[in-house]
Amino acid sequence: MSEISHEQVRRIILQRLESLARAGVTGLPRLSRPGEASRPGEAIREGEAPAEPAPRPGEASREGEASREGEAPAEPAPRPGEASRSHAHPAARHPPVRASRTATTGSLFSPEPAMPRRESLSREERVTALAQVCGEVAACQRCTELAATRTHTVFGVGNPLPRLVFLGEAPGADEDAQGEPFVGRAGQLLNKILDACTLRREDVYILNILKCRPPGNRTPTPHEAENCREYLLRQLAILQPEFLCCLGAVAAQCLLETTTPIGQLRGRFHQFQDIRVMATYHPAYLLRNPGAKRATWDDMKMLLREMGIELPPR
Ligand code: URA
Ligand code: URA
Repeated sequence: MSEISHEQVRRIILQRLESLARAGVTGLPRLSRPGEASRPGEAIREGEAPAEPAPRPGEASREGEASREGEAPAEPAPRPGEASRSHAHPAARHPPVRASRTATTGSLFSPEPAMPRRESLSREERVTALAQVCGEVAACQRCTELAATRTHTVFGVGNPLPRLVFLGEAPGADEDAQGEPFVGRAGQLLNKILDACTLRREDVYILNILKCRPPGNRTPTPHEAENCREYLLRQLAILQPEFLCCLGAVAAQCLLETTTPIGQLRGRFHQFQDIRVMATYHPAYLLRNPGAKRATWDDMKMLLREMGIELPPR
């Protein structure tokens, strides 16, 4: 094995901490309660079980969350067949196949039921599960070239309980520098599109097919997209959006595993697992071809109508 320098170790640790922070991890659990560690012999040693099981994710502060969410409707009635399925939630490892959920007409957020259903994770469980995947992405070495040239991995950003997810292609120079998707020129246009839709970045979740910047912004290779697909599928399994909007040909063709041109994919709904998928032009394409903005606006209106979101009269 080749030696790695202190500087490389420092960089890897920094990247991982930064990406955890972006995934919403604001603290790390204590290994012991106050006072415990200072008592002789009581420090938790490697491999020893803690005295008490830690609270399970999602058990604490559900009340506060529900009221902060503000829009969470009453628990929907279980659908036929739901009760008989296993209680184990495999979302962090295996994307589940779910029955389609009840739409939350007019609300941007997935309902967070008072009693978590197996296929719907609480906010806290999602943040924890996303942080796990985010940490793996930050350390990923599957694409040798991308791992060697990236500044930051770009995991994704936004609401962990989104009804709508936006899927782009890959980080560009600005995203690589900042570790956040769609922060450059294309991102500014995406913000305007969101604004026109009465959405904010914090309402939706934004991610990409590739988590690393391809050098010179070249198109991702099929091998790179395949390497990264597991992360995308795990993100979607945790986020469980009802709707997803593919931005551009690469996002749409990779997700839907098709070679159909974006001009034929846009303007209609597709299905990915139980997610309703709209495809539209990439904001970077719209910057070069402003004439296509009308088509993208038509696509967004079709998407909003399906979500039950009404635009204010203009
Ligand atoms: N273009 C993309 O597809 N994704 C980004 O995050 C930025 C630009
Ligand atoms: N080609 C792309 O890759 N994306 C678009 O949005 C349009 C053309």
